[in-house]
Amino acid sequence: MKDNEKFVCGADEQPDQIHSEYEETHSDERRDSCIFSEGIHSDIYDISWIGAGFMGRVYKVHDKIRDEDFVCKMYRKTSIPDIPFFVKADLRLNLMSLRHKNLCRVIDIKVGSRPRMLMDYLDGSDLEQYTTDKIFGISAGLDVIKQVLSGLQALHDRNIFYGDVTPRNIMISNGTVYLCDFSCSNYNDSEYGDRTEPLGRYRSPEKKTGNKIDFRSDIYEAGLLLDALTLRIMNCSLRYAAEKADGYSPLESHIFNIIRKAAMYRPEERYASAAEMMEDIEKAEELLP
Ligand SMILES: Nc1ncnc2c1ncn2[C@@H]1O[C@H](COP(=O)(O)OP(=O)(O)OP(=O)(O)O)[C@@H](O)[C@H]1O
Ligand SMILES: [Mg+2]
Repeated sequence: MKDNEKFVCGADEQPDQIHSEYEETHSDERRDSCIFSEGIHSDIYDISWIGAGFMGRVYKVHDKIRDEDFVCKMYRKTSIPDIPFFVKADLRLNLMSLRHKNLCRVIDIKVGSRPRMLMDYLDGSDLEQYTTDKIFGISAGLDVIKQVLSGLQALHDRNIFYGDVTPRNIMISNGTVYLCDFSCSNYNDSEYGDRTEPLGRYRSPEKKTGNKIDFRSDIYEAGLLLDALTLRIMNCSLRYAAEKADGYSPLESHIFNIIRKAAMYRPEERYASAAEMMEDIEKAEELLP
């Protein structure tokens, strides 16, 4: 059986009619049990809830026969028209054919009345806690950003921007970092109707204004992520940031300059590519004690 057929045998034969029954109206537990009992054969799959976001809900699916785990993201009906891969078949195929060590493998994307994306399950955690309460440390933070940039470059090489570089969309599993949610990805220079969390802080200025965006929007967001993983200066007032920067070590100053360049307001003033930003990160690593 081919990779992208794995999920089909249980999930695709009967579920359409139940979609509207649970969508938006039932509690999370009720939705779980609907999918479990009616949408996906319970003798083949165990399903457990992982989390939910602005656009949908994420489940871990354990294939009992093959002893394999997958992740299934079920999208809210209202999100569908705004999610590029649901309206662009070639983008779907492009994403499904991507293989890169820092991109979570997309196994299948189903359009229709139960739209969903099936991905590899990653045993680890997303970066949320490392950008809030936990401190990663500069060395680990730089390593994470390098891996993020490597994944972004692979997408950019296909003329696709990632579109949502946020800690919750990036998983770390056995030391490898994965970009994992391609719901905002689209071809360069596409219009961007802002689909991300309205209050999300990882949004480039051009996304906020609904302008056309390209890979430089990813660079901006990678700059904010670098800050959250290392210096955490972007939330400070300008005055405090300047005072703090005065006391920086050469390494911290170098990182500060990378963040500033990546997160310039005007896209043309940012790094021209993820690879270019990566070069500066590697120079910063040379300053590590
Ligand atoms: N491939 C995966 N393997 C394991 N866990 C995952 C995977 N993809 C996502 N998750 C987990 O599921 C959680 C919810 O993901 P989801 O993308 O729905 O949330 P979000 O990014 O906050 O919202 P949204 O993408 O809808 O704006 C993530 O924070 C992550 O912890
Ligand atoms: Mg997400």
